Amino acid sequence: METFQNVFQGRSFLACKDFTPAEISYLIDFSLHLKYLKQHNLPHRYLEGKAIALLFEKTSTRTRSAFVVACNDLGAHPEFLGADSTQLGKKESIEDTAKVLGSMFDGIEYRGFAHRDVEMLAKYAGVPVWNGLTTEWHPTQMIADYMTMKEKFGHLQGLTLAFVGDGHNNVARSLLVCGSMLGVNVHIVSPAALQPDQEVQAIAEKFAKQTGAKPLVTDQIQAGVACANVIYTDVWVSMGEHDWEERVKLLRPYQVNMDLMKATETDPDKLIFMHCLPAFHDTNTQYGQEIHEKYGLTEMEVTDEVFRSKYAWQFTEAANRMPAIKAIMAATLGNLFIPTVNEN
Ligand code: CP
Ligand code: NVA
Repeated sequence: METFQNVFQGRSFLACKDFTPAEISYLIDFSLHLKYLKQHNLPHRYLEGKAIALLFEKTSTRTRSAFVVACNDLGAHPEFLGADSTQLGKKESIEDTAKVLGSMFDGIEYRGFAHRDVEMLAKYAGVPVWNGLTTEWHPTQMIADYMTMKEKFGHLQGLTLAFVGDGHNNVARSLLVCGSMLGVNVHIVSPAALQPDQEVQAIAEKFAKQTGAKPLVTDQIQAGVACANVIYTDVWVSMGEHDWEERVKLLRPYQVNMDLMKATETDPDKLIFMHCLPAFHDTNTQYGQEIHEKYGLTEMEVTDEVFRSKYAWQFTEAANRMPAIKAIMAATLGNLFIPTVNEN
């Protein structure tokens, strides 16, 4: 008799590249399944009685909310530990914090700065650690994003996603690598100074050889967005960064507006707009107003017109953060029957 094991059991989820393409595909399909269960009021309390720490060194609306609701639906108890409410960093090292939290909690979410911090946490916690965003990677966002594309198009292989904007941030790097794992042609369309580094491009190329994806990094907008099914953008200045002046100068020509959407020349039914959020699409935020006063811009990475257009899928994408995070936690911590995940 064939024996099955849960290949996810006990593993941390720090970056998509640490998993196989088949495992990432499995998590996407599992997310879609969990979304269905929730929509139909079918119970899925795979983490009954577990305690989960949510450690945030940066602010968050979606990731925090998604973890809290996912924990509740799975029967687990979430505990939020904010930046200024723990000893971490100021009076206690990551190693010591990991040992303490790991002795009390069954799983830990961590949002922070350097990726090596979350790696250190995972090394010493002894329980699964889930990366809720670092400067380098945003993997829970990827499961939700590619889940959203699968929901819209029914498949992933052969689709083209053009990320237009700051191509060396956590979201762009993650899209490039994860898309290449899934057979999606990811185009990073950014000025040369803001493109993903060679190491990240090499990881994407390695996966692309396995899946047939055709990744592209270019500063040419027309060539980069041609035939895209998804136009994706993110903020020009990420959390922990401050150089607005330089970014506004470099990225102004890369704003996602209706002309750029039309430049894809894609059938409108086969084209969507995505954004991990939060977004600067008007002046209804503190930063939005400051940038307006300083540089005269009323919109930044995306115009309000595109944000509210028929192409807009960013709120479905945001809602999908919850089942995606639920799938990641349940697979790695739940007592689930998951047959061995095979390539192809
Ligand atoms: N997309 C995302 O991670 O949003 P938050 O920063 O609100 O969690
Ligand atoms: N690149 C953004 C993503 C926010 C979800 C940041 O790191 O601020």
